[in-house]
Amino acid sequence: MTTVTATYYRLEDWQGGHRTQPQEFAYWVEEVTGTIPAGLTGTLYRNGPGRLDRGGQRYHHPFDGDGMVNQVCFREGRAFYRNRYVKTPEYLAEERANQILYRGVFGTQKPGGWWHNFGDMRLKNIANTNVVYWGNKLLALWEAAHPYRLDPRTLETLGLDNLGGLIPEGHGFSAHPRLDPQGLLVNFGVKAGLNSEIRLYEFDDQWGVVRQHQYTINGFAFLHDFILTENYYVFFQNPVQFFPLPYLLGWTGAAQCLHFDREQPTRILVIPRSGGAVRVFLTEPCFVFHHANGYEQGDELVLDSICYSHFPTIDQQTDYRFVDFASLPAGQLKRFRVNLTTHRVRTDMLLPRCCEFPQVHPQRVGRSYRWVYLGVAADPVANAPLQGIMALDVTTGRQSVWLAGPRGFVSEPVFVPRSAGENDGWLLAFVYNAARQCTDIVILDAMDVSAGPVATLHLRHHVPYGLHGSFTPVDWGP
Ligand code: CO
Repeated sequence: MTTVTATYYRLEDWQGGHRTQPQEFAYWVEEVTGTIPAGLTGTLYRNGPGRLDRGGQRYHHPFDGDGMVNQVCFREGRAFYRNRYVKTPEYLAEERANQILYRGVFGTQKPGGWWHNFGDMRLKNIANTNVVYWGNKLLALWEAAHPYRLDPRTLETLGLDNLGGLIPEGHGFSAHPRLDPQGLLVNFGVKAGLNSEIRLYEFDDQWGVVRQHQYTINGFAFLHDFILTENYYVFFQNPVQFFPLPYLLGWTGAAQCLHFDREQPTRILVIPRSGGAVRVFLTEPCFVFHHANGYEQGDELVLDSICYSHFPTIDQQTDYRFVDFASLPAGQLKRFRVNLTTHRVRTDMLLPRCCEFPQVHPQRVGRSYRWVYLGVAADPVANAPLQGIMALDVTTGRQSVWLAGPRGFVSEPVFVPRSAGENDGWLLAFVYNAARQCTDIVILDAMDVSAGPVATLHLRHHVPYGLHGSFTPVDWGP
């Protein structure tokens, strides 16, 4: 196996993936290395910040970037690429003004100093975190607001969608819906405050509401993702508190007002899907954005999550492009065993290597499972950008890794099943190739990740680092 060190990559190379992509494209990808599998049919959608600056002013954090949706249609061994911005009224107003008109949650400020930001609590719906096709709707998701509906073929923005009035005004809809293998889309929305309101929704494949619950959670709850098991919804309420004064005064973004309390435990919230009281279990303080999977085993819940030792944040003075990776905590995959009878929580490390963006076979969501697919750092120890893709057998610890090379930077690998076999499928990932200053899309065989891509699609341009995406077997190509 290749030995790599913390100097494996150059910061300038990594920075190249943080450039705005102002153009919208639509074309058949002509440059392909290897062979696109003929059996791969359907549409990959990905979302992420496409615009990272406005009117000469850089956004403070990529998470504040305007959502740009990418579509890759696979048909008979060929691939069609398209990207479009989510044309929200706020985005269009900023386009017309060519100036930042809205503050960002992660610290982007309007120009002119703090007095121009003082007391301005308006949010720009940036619709930049995930994009999901379900029940004939394509939805761009951002957890703090309502979804945006897009045309699945043209990516044209059709408008806000509150799911038939189900999501109340001022409430969000998470960017991390889970698909129950029994054919349901399950999601939640949070209204965070001194106490937080959480709403849970389960939909059939026509967006009919199968279940709906509403709870009030003690304290501030920053919940980005959740775990769905056969009978429970599970949340990790990280020990963060919100002190909004610097945000209200116009000094910082809301995210910089989150304070991680190392003295407080993480609260694991277990909510029955059939309704009933929230049960709370305590474990070590940690910060979790993403969960890999979870399932029930006897009296226990087995919960696999990417944990940070504390909230990874960038202060108001730091330019994120020059961030010192070593100064930030690395995400590590841990297993929590929650005993529902004794209330004991046991923690085991599954993968100490810096990792993010876990995926499993869709038929294994909420069920016992073996294979998880992740983006990983090249360095086996230090915190660093994601430059490899790993298939990890959580039952044996066996790993299969492909590294994109010192000039390649990977994104979330989306798993596309070929059969019900748990590792029988493809992994699709966007890779920023600093040598070309353009983005490649790689297709890996999930059974043999270390063999490298079976095909690499060379786009004509770069796509800024994205967040999440999904695949549908429906071909929405031209
Ligand atoms: Co996420």
